[in-house]
Amino acid sequence: MHKRLLVAVTGASALPLAVRFLEVLKKQNIERHLVVSRHAQDVKKYETQKDILWETLCEKLYQDEDISSSVCSGSYPSDGMVVIPCSMNTLAHIAHGIENSVVTRAVGVHLKQERKVVLVPRETPLSLIHLENMLLAKKAGCSIVPPTLAFYFYPQTIDDLMDFIVGKILELFSISHTLYPLWQKKECTEI
Ligand SMILES: Cc1cc2nc3c(=O)[nH]c(=O)nc-3n(C[C@H](O)[C@H](O)[C@H](O)COP(=O)(O)O)c2cc1C
Repeated sequence: MHKRLLVAVTGASALPLAVRFLEVLKKQNIERHLVVSRHAQDVKKYETQKDILWETLCEKLYQDEDISSSVCSGSYPSDGMVVIPCSMNTLAHIAHGIENSVVTRAVGVHLKQERKVVLVPRETPLSLIHLENMLLAKKAGCSIVPPTLAFYFYPQTIDDLMDFIVGKILELFSISHTLYPLWQKKECTEI
C-alpha cells in the first residue's frame, strides 16, 4: 500500500540522520512531506558542508512559520509523522500541547487524529525536565526512538549506525527493510 509520511526536522544535532531517513523513504517509495524548523537550518551549517536541498528530498516542503499549511489540519491525509531529530525545545512544546509552529501543530493534529507520531529526541545527558517531557509525550501517544548506538550487528561505518535507527523507525510503521541484520542468537567465544 502506498504510504505518506510527514517528516519534521528540528534544530537538534544529527541532521545527517534526517537526510538518511528521507533517502531511505524515497527508496521504499514512501511519499515524503517535509517541514524543517528555522533552527534546523542553523544546525545544518554546523553539521554538513554539503548544500542540502530539502525540496529534492521530498514531494512537498512546508514552511514552519506557515500555520495555515494543510498539514496543520485534521483533514490532511497522512499515515503518520516522524520528528527527526527532535530538539528538546520541540519535545517540550509537544509534551505541553503548545502548537505555535507547523511542526508542533502537525504533531498535535496527528495525535488528535490518533495517527502514529515518532519522536527521535537528540540530547545527552538528559535532564529531569527532558525525561519528564519524554514521558508526557509517550503518554500522549508518541513513540520515542532515541538515536542510540548499538554494536551487536558489527557496524563498520556511521551509515551503518544511522541505518540501525532508521530501521527501528520503519519497523514502527510496519515497513519491512534490510537496513541491519535481524537479531539471531549465535555462539560467542568465551573470554
Ligand atoms: C550546532 C547546534 C546543535 C544543537 N544541538 C542540539 C541538540 O542536539 N539537542 C537539542 O535539544 N538542541 C540542540 N541545539 C539547540 C536548538 O537548536 C535550540 O534549542 C532551538 O531553539 C531548537 O528549535 P526548534 O525546536 O524550533 O528546532 C543545537 C543548536 C546548535 C546551533
